[in-house]
Amino acid sequence: PTAPAVIVAIDGPSGTGKSSTSKAVAAQLGLSYLDTGAQYRAITWWMVTNGIDTDDPHEIAAAAGKPEIVSGTDPAAPTITVDGTDVAGPIRTQEVTAKVSAVSAVPEVRTRITELQRTIAAGAPLGIVVEGRDIGTTVLPDADLKIFLTASAEARAARRSGELKGADVNVTREALIKRDAADSSRKTSPLAKAEDAVEVDTTDLTLEQVIECVVTLVEEKRAGK
Ligand code: DC
Repeated sequence: PTAPAVIVAIDGPSGTGKSSTSKAVAAQLGLSYLDTGAQYRAITWWMVTNGIDTDDPHEIAAAAGKPEIVSGTDPAAPTITVDGTDVAGPIRTQEVTAKVSAVSAVPEVRTRITELQRTIAAGAPLGIVVEGRDIGTTVLPDADLKIFLTASAEARAARRSGELKGADVNVTREALIKRDAADSSRKTSPLAKAEDAVEVDTTDLTLEQVIECVVTLVEEKRAGK
């Protein structure tokens, strides 16, 4: 008999290795993969590109239903398009990164994106690893396994500036702390650890160690432990 689909929620602030871990775990276990931050970045990119004033929550709310956002969930080659345009590159610019917290705090945006996320998770044949900020608390509260990744601010900033070539660690650190504070303090489904999530502090762990830890937790769940 085939194993039932397994749903894994991986939440935490930026720079904890969420994306690298989630992709690798999904690939190793043959599961689909969804980067929900990319979806919030994609809707933010659309708002910026279409002249929406991202300081005006009413304007954002009114436009929230307009763009069509499609995510490809193969962990070896995840994709993201807006109205058919590949936006994998443009969603990582500093402009989008600076505005994504404000856009993703608007309830109409969250409702829209949360619906997409639930549809994708329900349609994954063998199961899925979904990474974000509110997956275990709000999007998929019945997930089979919930992981909350943490790391010191220093470790997170160092990892992020490694990703952004030539970035200044101090600038990255300040921007990162500001974005996490905004994401954690917003009214609608803030970044938070679910009560039943397993917390993994990645500060002193290698990526390989974090991946192994999560894979083991999924396998234990599957074995009914
Ligand atoms: O994971 P990331 O840095 O690409 O996420 C970008 C932003 O998207 C993050 O600052 C907050 C928002 N986000 C969210 O509000 N809820 C999620 N589930 C995922 C991301």
